[in-house]
Amino acid sequence: MKKFLELLSEEMGKAFAAAGYDSTLGKVTVSNRPDLCEYQCNGAMAGAKLYHKAPIMIANDVAEKLAGSEVFKEATAVAPGFLNLKLSEEYLLKVVDQMASEPKFGLEKPDKIKKIIIDYGGANVAKPLHVGHLRSAVIGESIKRICRYAGHEVIGDVHLGDWGLQMGLVIMGLKERKPDLIYFDESYQGEYPEEAPFTISELEEIYPASSAKSKEDSEYKAKAMEATFKLQNGVRGYRALWKHILNVSVADLKKNYSSLNVEFDLWKGESDVHDLIPEMVAYMKDGGYAYISEGALVVDVKEDTDTKEVPPCMILKSDGASLYNTTDLATIMERMRLYHPDEIIYLTDKRQDLYFDQVFRCARKTKLVEPETELKWIGFGTVNGKDGKPFKTRDGGVMRLETLIRETKDEMYRKIREGREMSEEEARKVADLVAISALLYGDLSNQASKDYIFDVDRFTSFEGDTGPYILYTIVRIKSILSKYREQGGSTEGLKLMPAENESEKALMMQLVQFNAMMQNAAEETAPHKVCAYIYDLANAFNHFYHETKILSEEDTKKREGLIALLVLTRDVLEVCIDVLGFSAPEKM
Ligand code: ARG
Repeated sequence: MKKFLELLSEEMGKAFAAAGYDSTLGKVTVSNRPDLCEYQCNGAMAGAKLYHKAPIMIANDVAEKLAGSEVFKEATAVAPGFLNLKLSEEYLLKVVDQMASEPKFGLEKPDKIKKIIIDYGGANVAKPLHVGHLRSAVIGESIKRICRYAGHEVIGDVHLGDWGLQMGLVIMGLKERKPDLIYFDESYQGEYPEEAPFTISELEEIYPASSAKSKEDSEYKAKAMEATFKLQNGVRGYRALWKHILNVSVADLKKNYSSLNVEFDLWKGESDVHDLIPEMVAYMKDGGYAYISEGALVVDVKEDTDTKEVPPCMILKSDGASLYNTTDLATIMERMRLYHPDEIIYLTDKRQDLYFDQVFRCARKTKLVEPETELKWIGFGTVNGKDGKPFKTRDGGVMRLETLIRETKDEMYRKIREGREMSEEEARKVADLVAISALLYGDLSNQASKDYIFDVDRFTSFEGDTGPYILYTIVRIKSILSKYREQGGSTEGLKLMPAENESEKALMMQLVQFNAMMQNAAEETAPHKVCAYIYDLANAFNHFYHETKILSEEDTKKREGLIALLVLTRDVLEVCIDVLGFSAPEKM
């Protein structure tokens, strides 16, 4: 189904043509003076130069042709040459009707259906998720859902950090604590136990302790590097231990991600491409791309147009060890082989910009990807505290994601209990659900590249631009609909009616923007556009709700029309929150 502004522009274009002007001048936009009109067209201003005529004359000619238009009930030419427009309610109804009957509310399939891999989450094995992981998970998940809804084929990959020095550090830490474990006996030939020799809480203690020690004790660090080397080169006991670390850690990560409604299709990691590295290195050498510089193997990636220094991309260190770069490049190679994506999207902190610049240039130069494969990096801003500095715990430590989620749930629970008749148990359940909307919306409503202030009080408020406000609006609609059903009405198959007041019309005008908004959010991978749309939609609905009798409307046809409008508004809001990654309760 065509986008609403396109439909309006077509009608306007016809009027321009009928008056003897170029039809492309008839571009209609939403009015920036809603007190004067609903839509406007400034084409006569541009036409003035083309036709050497006063813009007001052109506007007058066009307005005349719009008399009797099915689309605009009013088209007024105003000085110096604007066309102020008001929509016909019958026409608006026709479009809303069509939208309600079409799949995905009239969102068309993309011109080209792309296969997209989204690399997000970025968790590191054996390290608890912290507040810095929130954005990658939440934004990545939403982009995945938006692109999927828009009709693309999307694969989400967590791309675990499961292969570097951090693994050697955990193994060394374990060896210090439990030197007698069978895994460290290199002469052992038998099977290893199925049970991991540690719990997730032990693991979470071991890593930071070991990492801190390695910073002070260079001998210890050397041992951790050796452990990493042994692991990567397949020493049996180390591999077996690593499998345990991976399993225990992934189970915990899955639990944490799923509490944010974040689900990955692939749980691959850096380790998965280990065996591809020698082949990739040989390929880069044979192709003449990679050369030895100061002992290391590198690929030059600077370009003539660079205004800043872009250092070479290092493929192997002088000791032959691979780096973060190496696994990312080998992963590109693997993804091309296994999935042949049209696009790969990465989500990381915006401080990795130079890094991804190097990796992408290297992948292109060495032809790991085809020229038409898009590589896109989305760098997001920092989550700050009210002091404007990166968000910390009260005592200044790194905030664990789990703690952040729990504190948001507690605050939401407090607000839900305030002034509501709800059992403790129900309030908990509702608060848990609504708290997720507070967290996700609080993050997603900001443009990804910007920093934002994490303000639990504002995020959990039922008023303003927040997740709970959106859910509150949906619940309000659901409760009217259930009352209507209790009174014996059916909410299925009802006929919409033309708007009878300004607020009803404004609600309809907001609804019909859905397909254009969603297409744009997918093209620009921009969840904040969905947030902005539903905030306006929720406001339009609440306005309408306060000004309109719904259940007490006496005219049956009109009442049914209003109910149909409620059903459509609820459905659109629910699709939107679903692509943002959360859902609404029945009551709150
Ligand atoms: N594990 C990495 C980190 O903690 C993030 C991974 C991002 N994805 C990627 N393909 N490099 O910084």
